[in-house]
This record gives sequence, structure tokens and C-alpha cells, in this order.
Amino acid sequence: MCMKISVATKITIFSFAALCISATHIFSYKPIPVSFTSPKGWPAPAYNFSGNPLTKEGIALGKKLFYDPALSSDNTVSCATCHEPSAAFATYDHPLSHGVNNLTTRNAPSLFNVAWQKELMYDGRASTLEAQALLPMHSTDEMDTNIPALLKHVNTNPSYKKMFTAAFGPSKINMDQITRALSQFQLSLVSSNSKYDKVMRGEASFILPEKLGYEIFETKCVSCHTPPLFSNYSYQNTALTRDPQLKDNGRARFTGSSADSLKFKVPSLRNAALTFPYGHDGRYYSLLDVLNHYRSSGQISLSNFEIGQLTAFLNTLTDSSALTNPAFLPGQAVINNKMANHAHQ
Ligand code: HEC
Ligand code: HEC
Repeated sequence: MCMKISVATKITIFSFAALCISATHIFSYKPIPVSFTSPKGWPAPAYNFSGNPLTKEGIALGKKLFYDPALSSDNTVSCATCHEPSAAFATYDHPLSHGVNNLTTRNAPSLFNVAWQKELMYDGRASTLEAQALLPMHSTDEMDTNIPALLKHVNTNPSYKKMFTAAFGPSKINMDQITRALSQFQLSLVSSNSKYDKVMRGEASFILPEKLGYEIFETKCVSCHTPPLFSNYSYQNTALTRDPQLKDNGRARFTGSSADSLKFKVPSLRNAALTFPYGHDGRYYSLLDVLNHYRSSGQISLSNFEIGQLTAFLNTLTDSSALTNPAFLPGQAVINNKMANHAHQ
């Protein structure tokens, strides 16, 4: 009898203590929620925010991680090395992105508006942003991250420790938290304030070549580069010949189906003026080269005049407010609890 009481008492004391500990966990950090609002007229984002709610602290931490070369094996390559902020978070200075051990086999696409993408990579092999982030870290060509060393680094670095605690609470830092924070920063990268958007909102108007280009775009390009995201995120074969060295079979490399041979995910054309070189392997240096390819391969008939107008239209997709938003660029700027780039709504 006596024994039973003492066990019960012990249990009570233990559960009370456990309650106190979990209460400290709950109340010792209060991340500030950030609301994600789709720009007016846009579809709902594909990302499941309920599994990883955006917070001011989570986004700030994700930004620090995104720009930190300590994520790579030799401390030279950060996510931003290939996803360059001045090029709308794409690789612009060479066709194939460079990692720790030389070259990758593709050109990094822009990261703006990833919140709307159900599948990631040119072949769609990553189905969540968190799974995607592990691919460059595990790839020996890209970051070749030594995961135990990275975890040791963040768990012992006071500044990281503080930021992780503020975002996720005082537990031991793990890869799940790292990838979720990286996602939060990437999800905040929304571009929806180009001249095109202003025209659609009735705040600006196209000059004649832009207007004519828009009309051509509406008939010849929107089936794949569908507004407002300028992609329908399908996989298409646009008759790019296979590079004999890269031997990139596109989506077939992932699905193993010959029907997917040489199909690549339709890239968004937002900020296209800045994301050259173009194509999955960066083979085209200018919009003119891309448009010439559509014409010479016989896929889309285009006159020289139409190519000029289309180029004028594509230039209206440049969003200088997103490209210069301090919340996206390296440094200390923080975002408001309503995302800064939605201020115009
Ligand atoms: C060495 C260059 C390099 C580094 C470093 C790198 N990436 Fe990438 N990234 C690429 C390339 C190339 C692709 C396209 C790969 C493909 O389609 O197979 C890509 C694709 C992506 C995509 C998919 C975009 C889309 O439209 O499908 C996301 C998201 C992304 N990277 C995020 C990150 C994050 C986060 C980091 C840091 C943890 C990172 N990348 C580090 C080169 C890099
Ligand atoms: C059948 C679908 C389809 C149509 C129609 C189409 N595109 Fe594309 N576009 C793609 C795909 C797929 C890619 C990526 C190809 C690759 O990387 O191998 C692409 C790539 C591009 C790129 C390079 C973007 C980058 O970041 O690398 C530009 C620019 C472009 N298209 C413009 C246009 C224009 C302008 C039109 C209309 C004249 C058009 N496209 C019509 C599917 C299409």
C-alpha cells in the first residue's frame, strides 16, 4: 500500500515536473507569425504552410543559412553562390552552376515564387522544398555538406543557437529545423510587382512594343508560360538537342519513362531579363537566342518584328522592387509581419 502511494506520488511529481518543463518550452519563445497572402488574382500557393508556419524569426534564420558558406564542406559555397540575388536568385555568370568540386550539370533557376511550385527541379524530382534543400547539401558537386560537422557548428555557435531557439524553441538543432528555416526564407521570395503587374492592376500602361509583344505572348506562349506565374509547371520537350557531354534526358532521368525523354519543367519568365543564360543547361545567352531556337526548330513561327516586340514585353516582367528588397538581400534587414512585397495590395 505504502509502496503504491509513493509510486503514485512519484508519478505525480514527475508529471508535474514534465508539465513545467514543457510549459517552459512553450512559453520561453514566441515567434512572431508572418502571414502569407497571395497577390490578388493569383492561385493559392502549393506549399503547405500549416506544416511550417512562417515566422519573422524563422525567415531571418533561413536567410542567414541561405547566405552562409559554412553549409558547404570547404566553407566556400552558400545557396546564394548559385542562386545569386542580383540575378533573381538564378545563376547568371556561367551556363552551369559551380559548386565545391567544379561544375554541376544544370543552370540554377530563379527562386522567386517557389511557394507556388508543387514539384521542384527541372525534372521534378523533389516534391517538397525541405527535401529539395538536402539535394545540394548531399551532392558532391554542389555543397558536399558534412552533416555532422554542420550540426555541430550550428549547435555550438552562439548566434545560431540564439536564432534557432527564437524560431523553433530550445531543443537540439536538427536538419529538419535547418531545412524548414531555409524554406521559410525562400517562401518569402515573392515577385509580383513588375511593370506587367502594374499594368494588370491598372496602375501603369504598356508602351506600344510592349503591348504588341503582350498580344503575341498571349497567342504563342501562354499555353506553357501561363500568367500570373508565367509557368504552368508542366514538363515539355522544346526540341533542345541533347548535349553530348551532359547527356541530360530531363524528366526521364527521374521517372525512367521514355515518354518523358528531354522534357524539362517550364521555367517562370518573371525577371527573365536577368536570369540569363537560359535553358536547363544555360546554353542560350540572350532572349534573342531562345526565341531564335523556337523559330529555327519550327515549333513557333515568329517574324523578326515579333521577336522584337516579345523581347520588349518580356522586359516588363522585371520586378525591381523585389530585386532590391533589403529583406531578401544579405544583411540585417528584417521583414514586417506582413510580407513587405505585398504592401501594394
Ligand atoms: C552548386 C550550385 C547550387 C547550390 C550551392 C545550390 N543550388 Fe539550388 N539549384 C541549383 C541547380 C543547378 C538547380 C536546378 C537543378 C535541377 O533541375 O536538377 C537548383 C534548383 C533549386 C531549387 C528548385 C527550383 C525550381 O524551380 O525547381 C531550389 C528550391 C533550390 N535550388 C534551392 C537551393 C537551396 C535552399 C540551396 C542551399 C541549401 C541551394 N539551392 C544550393 C544549383 C545550386
Ligand atoms: C510547349 C510549351 C512552351 C511554349 C509554347 C513556350 N515555351 Fe518557353 N520554355 C518551355 C520550356 C519547357 C522551357 C525550358 C527548356 C529547357 O530548359 O530545356 C522554356 C524556356 C523558355 C525560356 C528560357 C527561360 C529560362 O529561365 O531558362 C524563355 C525565355 C522562354 N521559354 C520564352 C518563351 C516564349 C517567349 C514563348 C512564346 C514565343 C515560349 N517560351 C513558348 C516551354 C514552352
